[in-house]
Amino acid sequence: MKILGIESSCDETAISVTEDGRKVLSNIVASQIDEHRLYGGVVPEIASRRHAENISWVAKAALEEAGCTMDDIDAVAVTYAPGLIGALLVGVSFAKGLAMSAKKPLVPVHHIAGHIASNYISHPDLEPPYLCLVASGGHSHIVEVKDYTHYHVVGRTRDDAAGECFDKVARTLGYEYPGGKFIDAAAKLGDPKAYTLPKPRITGSEYDLSFSGLKTAVINLVHNAEQKGEKIDREGMAASFQATVARTLVDKTMLAAENLGYKTIGLAGGVSANSGVRALLEKECAKRGYKVYMPELKYCGDNGAMISCQGYYDFLAGKRADESLNGIATLSLDAISE
Ligand code: KG4
Ligand code: ZN
Repeated sequence: MKILGIESSCDETAISVTEDGRKVLSNIVASQIDEHRLYGGVVPEIASRRHAENISWVAKAALEEAGCTMDDIDAVAVTYAPGLIGALLVGVSFAKGLAMSAKKPLVPVHHIAGHIASNYISHPDLEPPYLCLVASGGHSHIVEVKDYTHYHVVGRTRDDAAGECFDKVARTLGYEYPGGKFIDAAAKLGDPKAYTLPKPRITGSEYDLSFSGLKTAVINLVHNAEQKGEKIDREGMAASFQATVARTLVDKTMLAAENLGYKTIGLAGGVSANSGVRALLEKECAKRGYKVYMPELKYCGDNGAMISCQGYYDFLAGKRADESLNGIATLSLDAISE
C-alpha cells in the first residue's frame, strides 16, 4: 500500500511516498530555514507563504522520485495538528484538493505521532508497545506508545521544549538559528564540566520536564560575564548545557521506563539528532539491558516520510477525514488516543 504523506506544520514543506509504512520511495524536503534565520526564528506568515509557493512542486517531485502517479497512491496523509495554524492550513487544504481530485481516502496525522513513526522507517523490527522520548522544537514528551495509534503522555515539559532551549542558548552564545546543531558541534570541543548549571527540578509529576530555569541560568551567566568584560568559554558552555539537557531527558525517561515496566525505548523529534542525547540514552539503556531505537539523522527533523509512515498505520486503524478537515494548532496525543 502506497501513502503520500504531507508535512507543513512549521518551516519545512515536506512530501514523501512510502510503501507499507516502512519503505521510503521518495522524501522531498523544501526547507525555509535560510529565510527565517534572518529573523532569528520562524516567522509564521512567511512560513505559510512559502508553503503555498512550494507545496505543488514538492508533491510533483515526491511522486516523480517514487516513480508514481496519483493512480498508484492508495491514500493521502497530512499533518493537521499541532503546529503553526497558517502553515498547517496550506498542507491540509492541498491534501484535501489532491485527495478529492484523485478520489483517494484522506488520513489526518498528528505531528508528534509522525515523529514517533520515524523509528519504524529506520528499524523494521520495532513494534509497540514501548516508551518514547520525543524532544523537538515545540514539544518534549515522554510517551507510552501502546500500539501504532494509541498513546499515553506520561511526562511533558512545563515550560520550554528542549529544542527551543537549545535554540535560545545557541542565540545567547552567538550561533545562528536554529542553533541546536551548532551547540552539538561546539559541545564536541568543550569540557562538559566547564560550568555548573542547575539541573531542572520539578515537583508534582515525577516524569514532567522543565527547561526554562536552565535556559535563564545560561543567559544570566553569559550576560554577567559580558558585563564584567570576561570571555565566555563557548565550547565549555555548549558542552555543559548539552550534558545537562541530555542528563535530564535521559534520567526522566529511565525513571518512567523502570516504574512503568518498559524495556524498549524510542527517541524521536528534532533533538533526537543530538549526539549527546543519543550517546547518553544508548549508555543508560545498555546498562539496564533495554533495547533502544533512534531515527536515522535524515528522519530526526520534520519530514514527509514520518507522516506517510504514520498515515499507513492510521489508515489501517480506520482513521479518515472528509472535506471538512481543519488544522488544529494545539492538540495533545492523548486527545487522539481515546
Ligand atoms: O522536530 P523538529 O524538526 O521541529 C519541530 O517539530 O519542532 O525540531 C527542531 C528542533 C530545533 O529546535 C533544532 O535546533 C533542534 O530540533 N535540533 C537539535 C539538533 N538538530 C536539530 N538540537 C540539538 N542537537 C541537534 N543536533
Ligand atoms: Zn517536528
